[in-house]
Parts: sequence; structure tokens; C-alpha cells
Amino acid sequence: MARPTTVFVCSACGTESAKWHGQCPGCGAWNTLAEEARADTRRSAPAAGRAVKPVRLADVRAERHARLSTGIGELDRILGGGVVPGSIVLIGGSPGIGKSTLTSMALGNLQGAGKRTLYVSGEESAAQIRLRAERLPGAALEVPTLAETDLDTVLATLDAERPEVCVIDSVQTLHAADLTGAAGSVGQVREVADRITRLAKARDIAVLLVGHVTKEGALAGPRVLEHLVDCVLQFEGERERTYRTLRALKNRFGSTNDVGVFEMRQGGLVEVEDASARFVGEATRAPGSAVLAAMEGSRPLLVEVQALVSPSELVPPRRVCNGIDRNRLALVLAVLGRHAGVSVGSADVFVNVAGGVRVDEPGADLAVALAVASAARGLPLGGDSPKPVACFGEVGLTGELRSVGHPDRRLAEARKFGLGPVIAPAGSEGGATEVPTLRAALRAALPQQPRARAA
Ligand code: TYD
Ligand code: MG
Repeated sequence: MARPTTVFVCSACGTESAKWHGQCPGCGAWNTLAEEARADTRRSAPAAGRAVKPVRLADVRAERHARLSTGIGELDRILGGGVVPGSIVLIGGSPGIGKSTLTSMALGNLQGAGKRTLYVSGEESAAQIRLRAERLPGAALEVPTLAETDLDTVLATLDAERPEVCVIDSVQTLHAADLTGAAGSVGQVREVADRITRLAKARDIAVLLVGHVTKEGALAGPRVLEHLVDCVLQFEGERERTYRTLRALKNRFGSTNDVGVFEMRQGGLVEVEDASARFVGEATRAPGSAVLAAMEGSRPLLVEVQALVSPSELVPPRRVCNGIDRNRLALVLAVLGRHAGVSVGSADVFVNVAGGVRVDEPGADLAVALAVASAARGLPLGGDSPKPVACFGEVGLTGELRSVGHPDRRLAEARKFGLGPVIAPAGSEGGATEVPTLRAALRAALPQQPRARAA
């Protein structure tokens, strides 16, 4: 029999060592070695295995499982049509974002639909879980619950109860007794996830595995698990704001980069089906506000990008952004200054995507540029046209506007909510105001405006 041993693996370079070192002998990084359990590999010499006949793919029986609906439309959609039996879904997000609420609601709905469920929490006592469930709709109070941090106990319970769907909240709080290291350390998290995955696959239990991610996304946790699980969902948003987005970063059974928008209310998370309508309704149309026709995966979404340009004493001035990438902002500001005659010079620049939404796509560049230009000039986009201007497009380094994916869907969404004109890169068609360069986009969006006012 293979004798399990433990080795120490560097999380940076993967070097293995029999002993723990403060500094990795492979790459020299400090404090990166984490303990991992291993079957003794010395015994598995090549000749010890038995050759098996490979199977032609066409002869493989691929069963199409009926998906389990969580009763939460947005969650089902992001998963690709519901939870696949026996699959492992990692739900990452910062503390307080609503992971426990979402998973409790999903289990409540599944339980209500007659499925066997189990909620395992290492974070909260059963009483605390009950208090939350009382606020939630559906059969949340009927869900069998286990408050436990010992991995072996959890695995034994899963094996005995055989739920169809279970939630483990969270992977960082479970502890494998045969490994040293505190719960939540890289070695522990990997071991916990690995053993849960193996049991779940063997018993056909779908697992929603909750994992905390810090704001930087760097932690002992979800990042090291991404390759182990079938699906990685990221729950994002500001804790203080009501809107949260759920997106798939990896999905073996569906598309990635689809996004669901939720709102945290008194009775739990509520799906925001018409997010565009909300965001457009809330858009201010003041100087510094631009409506972006964004794509979130396969779904168009209208969001408001706001900018503020204000004189600063600081050297260097501030460049603060929420909801877009900082480097993208730096690029857009540079192109604005160099190719479009809008220099923000030594002014502070703040850019914010309203509602706490994150737009991670190059198509957001033009909205950022127009919002900043409009803020710098103190003029609203579109002048006094009755309809708000919308836009999309990638800004290139030579000042050109580059086309982005799905112009038709973006335009259709903008039209659906009565926006116009829609300023877009050349070739977008569909009635868009096509412009070849950022300078031309500024002329179209900020008419009768002579020169940029240096900030
Ligand atoms: P929670 O799901 O516990 O977050 P996580 O598990 O990601 O740490 O809850 C997040 C916040 O949501 C918490 O501060 C309380 C709030 N909340 C509501 O506003 N309404 C509700 O119905 C519930 C259950 C929670
Ligand atoms: Mg929680």
C-alpha cells in the first residue's frame, strides 16, 4: 500500500522539499513553502501500472445530466443552466459580499424543490445560520445544517447523508487534522478542497465551495484551487453598495465571463434582471458622465462612467479609479493628451463606474475618455440633445478607435433604452455614429466646443 507522506511545496515555483524551509531552496522566495500530503510516489515505478486500452472518443458514453435549478435565475444562467450533479463550484468573494446569503438561498430553493441538501459551515454557529435563513425566502429554514470545522467529520457526514447538493462555507475554515498548519493556509486549503472534490466526484454530490478572496485577490485560497474545481464564480462589488455582480471565471459546463447582477435587500439577494434600465435611469447627464454600452460576457449592459477632474497640489497628481483598470485609465489619459487635445496635466482625475460595477473590457476606453474630456471641459456629453449619448470602443495608442466585440448587441441595448447617438468605432454599423479616432469621437460627443481647457 502506498504510504502517505507529507512534502513541502513552494507556492511560487512548485519546488518540493522534504523539510520546511523559511526560504524556498528553488526560487529563494520567503515563506512560500506549504505542507501537502502525498502518497509515496517511489512505489509507483512505471512498470507497476497495468496498461489499459484507450477508448475512441466516439465510443465514450457521455451522459447528459439534468441540471439542478437553484431557483435563482442569474446563478443558473452563469452556471450554464443550473448546477451539474457531481460538479464542484468555487464561489469566491470578499467577506460580507453575500456568499453565505447566495448559497443559503440556492440550497433553500433546492430543498424546497425536493432535493437532498446539506449546508456545512465552519464560519458560523447553527444559530447564526438560522437567523440568516429566517430572513430568506423559500425553504431556507428546512436545509439540514452542520456547523463543523473538522474535515474528517465533514467528509464522513457527507458520505452518510449523500446530499445531491451541498455548500461548504468556507474552504478556509475547514481543517485537515493530519496536516500541520492553521486552517486557511495554502496547504490546508488545497488538501481540504482536494479531499472534498474526490468524495464529491465519487458520490455524485454537487458542491458549492465558498472561498474568501481579499481585495487584491491574493491569498492562501481560491487562486490555488482554480484548477481543481469545475467552475469558479467570482462575487464582486462594494460591500457598502447594494449592487453585486457574479461572474464565471472558469466553467467546464458553460460559458465564462457571463455576469449576473444582484441587489442586497432585507430579504436576501434579489436578481436585477434589467440592470441597464437601473443604471441608465440613475445616470446624471452632468459634465463628466458617459453611458457605456458594455458587454458582460454574452449580455449587453449599459453602465454610467463618471469622471471628475480637479486641480491638485499633489505631485504626482492622483489617478483614482473604481470599476476599471488603473493602467487602462493611464493609457486613456495619455492618448487624450497626445492625440485629442485634452490634457489633464497636473489635475487629479477620478473615474468611477456607478453602482459598484466592474467593467473589464477594452470597449470601456471610449466612455472613460469621453467622461474625462467632458469633466475637463465642464460640458455635458451631447450638449442639449434630448437623449443621453452612449458609446463604446477601444482607444488605440495612436489615437484611433478600434472596434470591439458585439457592436450589434451593444447598439440594440442602447436603442432599447432610448439612448442616442451611440458613438462607436468605424464598422460598427447599425445606425451608430461611427468615428475613426478619439478626436473625432470628442467632436461628435462635445459639439461646438473649441479647445480643451488645460486643467
Ligand atoms: P453574507 O452572505 O454573510 O456575506 P459573506 O458570506 O460573503 O461574508 O452577508 C453579507 C451582508 O449582507 C451582511 O452584512 C448582511 C447583509 N444581508 C442583508 O443585507 N440582507 C439579508 O437578507 C441578508 C441575509 C444579509
Ligand atoms: Mg459567509
